[in-house]
Amino acid sequence: MTSTTAGLLDGVRDRLARAGREPGDDSAGHDGTGHDGTGHDDARRVDARLADALRASGRVIGSTALRELTRAARAELYGAGPLQHLLEETGVTDVLVNGPDDVWVDRGSGLERVPVSLGGPDDVRALAARLAAAGGGRLDDASPVVDARLPDGTRLHAVVAPVCAAGAVISLRVLRPSGFGLAELVAHGTVPPTWEPLLRVLVARRASMLVSGGTGTGKTTLLAALLALVPHDERVVCVEEARELVPDHPHVVPLTARRPNVEGAGGVELADLVRAALRMRPDRIVLGECRGAEVREVLMALNTGHEGGLATLHANDVGVIPARLEALAALAGMDRVAVAAQAASGLDVVLHLRRGGVEVARRRFLAQVGLVRRDDRTGLVVDLAASWDGSGDPRPGPAWGELVRRWSA
Ligand SMILES: Nc1ncnc2c1ncn2[C@@H]1O[C@H](COP(=O)(O)OP(=O)(O)OP(=O)(O)O)[C@@H](O)[C@H]1O
Ligand SMILES: [Mg+2]
Repeated sequence: MTSTTAGLLDGVRDRLARAGREPGDDSAGHDGTGHDGTGHDDARRVDARLADALRASGRVIGSTALRELTRAARAELYGAGPLQHLLEETGVTDVLVNGPDDVWVDRGSGLERVPVSLGGPDDVRALAARLAAAGGGRLDDASPVVDARLPDGTRLHAVVAPVCAAGAVISLRVLRPSGFGLAELVAHGTVPPTWEPLLRVLVARRASMLVSGGTGTGKTTLLAALLALVPHDERVVCVEEARELVPDHPHVVPLTARRPNVEGAGGVELADLVRAALRMRPDRIVLGECRGAEVREVLMALNTGHEGGLATLHANDVGVIPARLEALAALAGMDRVAVAAQAASGLDVVLHLRRGGVEVARRRFLAQVGLVRRDDRTGLVVDLAASWDGSGDPRPGPAWGELVRRWSA
């Protein structure tokens, strides 16, 4: 940034502050972070305000210059500053900063280092703190970890010293709202065409499903695509740690957890929200990501007449899902027998995503469909109903017949 631009931005910042609309001040959104769920309307409003403020500075002449400066000012004041152009690049899903000269992006074919310099460790730390503030969070010595959502929907995770050494570690995940319907996922080679009717039937017939996979394999994206298939007369309550799910569905109630303040008060846990969701007359209860003791509440909900629920779960293979569920439920004081009984009667199907090797160009794809069952001897089991290696035809597994018998129309 040149010193002229920096001076201009200071003027714009003052002008916005005087108008009571300082960056981070926007409180119009329903999730408490000033966002409307899509980010697009916010961006338009922000651009209009910035253009007014830039015009009022009397230092911008010409509509092209105004457009460019508005974009630069948005990136600097509301967006991800020097990282914004990477986030806006088509195909980029993740931007990761490990240090001032250590920036990586994922353009769909794995991580690549990019030649971006962010200054020194203090600049990276300042950028992380500013992004956290833009997402309604805070990041400092007393609270060195933040998980938030930026005004344009980008998910932010950042840590600063003493948790990390080099200023800050920033992880940004681009949200592409309603970018992928099931048909698009089929067109992108994420879901094999022959499984599209199966997924539609599973949602329509209210199968309770877990979407599993490793980190960044597209679990949240597939979950949103499945939610878009939920009949429009159903009420969907989505419980999440930070809001990511923006399904193309007219009746979604988003509930987001809240961290406690520095005194440790005011926190709202995912388990509290799942319990709250039960009293909101939900037709479907959705848990964005199951990663702790809230698994107990979810299993309870699925066993008390709330079928058709959906959740995602981190797991590297369908075979390890029973152990993952047991480990999470143990955090809530449930023993193996109880988990097996509740999961087997409450959960129906597992959809497992993978990210392919070189042969499928690191593409994300639905690799396995599993059926959940309880075995008297071994406890909870996920039987493989079908598998796909990302190209060609999927292969039926041992439980294919059972899947068809139970779920085909
Ligand atoms: N099928 C796909 N094709 C191309 N890009 C995709 C696909 N699915 C997801 N993405 C992109 O990949 C990124 C990761 O997707 P998503 O957030 O759904 O993954 P996730 O498994 O839920 O990640 P996490 O483990 O962090 O929760 C997002 O930017 C998303 O837009
Ligand atoms: Mg996710």
